[in-house]
This record gives sequence, structure tokens and C-alpha cells, in this order.
Amino acid sequence: MSISLIYARSLNHCIGKDGRIPWHLPDEFGHFKKTTLGKPIIMGRKTYEDHESALPGRRNIVISRQPDYKLVPGIELAASLDDAIALAHENSDEVFVIGGVHFFVEALPQANCVYETIIQANIDGEALLPEFDFSDWQTTLIGEHEVDDCHAYAYKIYRHQRAESN
Ligand SMILES: NC(=O)c1ccc[n+]([C@@H]2O[C@H](COP(=O)([O-])OP(=O)(O)OC[C@H]3O[C@@H](n4cnc5c(N)ncnc54)[C@H](OP(=O)(O)O)[C@@H]3O)[C@@H](O)[C@H]2O)c1
Repeated sequence: MSISLIYARSLNHCIGKDGRIPWHLPDEFGHFKKTTLGKPIIMGRKTYEDHESALPGRRNIVISRQPDYKLVPGIELAASLDDAIALAHENSDEVFVIGGVHFFVEALPQANCVYETIIQANIDGEALLPEFDFSDWQTTLIGEHEVDDCHAYAYKIYRHQRAESN
């Protein structure tokens, strides 16, 4: 059983602004979709409210402290990260934590793999990740993209694999 994290951050560690992702990078979203398709995805309530629909082809689990929080059909509610991970592992070996800040921080000590996109710009926003130390992990550059008509920012995609899980 394994736990993976996936996120995109700017150089200054921003992942969100005003409840949204403050960039539009279609190919980066394609990477997110390809990587998570078929796997359960776990997210905080605010990350869910960014799209308020089920991401198709994946079991969607939303974490909230509100036991009566109303979700669109097809999405499951969990009261904690541990409950969400237990649910997700019922029918999948690999589960993805897809945000936000609190859940990346809480899940990192248990994670085997982190897919990290670094957008090559400083971007304003209040959802900020702390600096994660991947120096003991095995890091591979798995993709990069230049600025083009559809992508206002260049980015690089890294996969960090925890050393003992190789
Ligand atoms: N760039 C990226 O890769 C990426 C990825 C994901 C999200 N984002 C962005 O990040 C922002 C949202 O992230 P966020 O960090 O602000 O919020 P979040 O983690 O998505 O959601 C926070 C909510 O999760 C619930 N929660 C938090 N801790 C909990 C705990 N210990 N037990 C149970 N429930 C708990 C609470 O919901 P209740 O208040 O309902 O109890 C809390 O309000 C948005 O701007 C989004 O677009 C970016």
C-alpha cells in the first residue's frame, strides 16, 4: 500500500489564491490527470470547492470536520486524513493526496512518492506550502514545458521517491 502526493507550486511555494489555482496550464493538468487516473484521490474541503464536481475515473474522497457537509453525488466524505486513507486503500494499493496545504504536510511523513511540479515564476497567493526537504529522496526530472501560447509559465515536473521504497 502506498501514498503519493501530487501538486504544482510556484518558486515561492504558492499553490492557491482565493480558493483557486492561480494559473492555467493545460498540459500540466494533463499530467495530473494521467498520473491520478484510476486511483483514489483525497482532498480537503476547500480543494474540492475549487471545482465542486467529481474528478472522473477516480474515487473522490473529501475531508471535512462538518459531518453533514453536502457533496455532489459520487463523492465520499471522510472526517480525517487517516479515515480517508483507510477508505481509499479498501480497493487500491496506491492513493493520491491532492491537497491542500494541511494535507500535504500531514501526509508527507507517510508518503512513498511525491509528484512535484515547479512553476518557474513567483506567484501571489495565500495557500503556501512549507519547504519540503527531499534531499534523502531519489529525485527524477520527469517532464518540462516552456512558455507557449497556451502556457503563460514554464514548469518542471519532478518525481521524488522515498529511498527505502525503491
Ligand atoms: N496547486 C496545486 O497543486 C493545488 C492542489 C490542491 C489545492 N490547491 C489550492 O489550494 C487551495 C485550497 O487548499 P487549502 O489548504 O486552503 O484547503 P484544503 O486543505 O483543501 O481544505 C481545508 C479544509 O479541510 C478540512 N480540514 C483541514 N484539516 C482537517 C483535519 N485535521 N480534519 C478534518 N478536516 C480538516 C477543513 O474543512 P471544513 O472547514 O469543512 O471542516 C478545512 O477547512 C485552493 O486555492 C486550491 O485551488 C492547489
